[in-house]
Amino acid sequence: MDLISSLGISKDQFNWIFDLAKEKKEEKVHHKPLLDKTVGMAFFEPSTRTYTSFDAAAKKSGASVVGFKGADMTSTVKGESFSDTIRMLNCYSDCIVLRHKYDGSAKFASEISEVPVINAGDGKNEHPTQSLIDLFTIKERFGGIDGLSYCMMGDLKYSRTTNSLLYLLNRFNPSDVYVYSPESLGVRNEVLSKLNYKCTVLSDEDFNSTLESVDVLYVTRLQKERFTDENEYHKFKGSYRVDDETITSLGKDSIVLHALPRVDEINRKIDSSDKSMYFQQARNGVPVRMALLEMIFDGKQ
Ligand code: NCD
Repeated sequence: MDLISSLGISKDQFNWIFDLAKEKKEEKVHHKPLLDKTVGMAFFEPSTRTYTSFDAAAKKSGASVVGFKGADMTSTVKGESFSDTIRMLNCYSDCIVLRHKYDGSAKFASEISEVPVINAGDGKNEHPTQSLIDLFTIKERFGGIDGLSYCMMGDLKYSRTTNSLLYLLNRFNPSDVYVYSPESLGVRNEVLSKLNYKCTVLSDEDFNSTLESVDVLYVTRLQKERFTDENEYHKFKGSYRVDDETITSLGKDSIVLHALPRVDEINRKIDSSDKSMYFQQARNGVPVRMALLEMIFDGKQ
């Protein structure tokens, strides 16, 4: 099976991944189920966490890892097409983990590939494996996902992580979902139209009064590389920030998540707060991706 969109993840699949990832995290399982597998990494875009945690997850599960990070050392620079690169990875690996700057590239690759394709981020479209990590972190902390109040904050127009998280929440019953962004960087209508729950857009005033009731504040950076006009990016730079004041306004059991990298939207001073869970969230990338790789190879529907 492929993993292209969070819209394609069922509740059963999420629960299966959650349970197995929890066992992996608690180191209850030591066998290496993927000894005969090779994971092919095709990272055409920069990455720290996604690449490294997939690499670690594959190796901890016993798989070999081949591929590349950065297309500049591949035959792409000689003029090789994207589809031929995918075909080549089919010759050397049992699944492809793909990151690319173009929306839809993972879907396109899955149509060419004979081995499963995992979308590790396609342009401003989606990042489904990140949404699994996000909900894993939330469920681990709160014991569940239903009944919580969520607020996505930041550049929601170009962020693929928030799209995938919003889609995955379709499978659950959040009490409230809020979105808060600089004007003109709101969630795109094509995304909103696929949600089966009410998503409320907050003004600056609403945001301040709503914070107290928010359980999960999910922050994203300005996606600089996706702005078509650099002046537009500079216009928004520094326009939102999570700091001590935000942390104090949140309820006492609330958490702050961020897929990272952060730039200036999270003040480093709040890193030591119990509410700041973005580093634990990054750490969860390994057990969640270990469980996911097993699911992909087992073909669990
Ligand atoms: C995110 C991404 O690549 O979309 N990073 C990640 O995978 N952890 C978020 C971002 O780049 O802002």
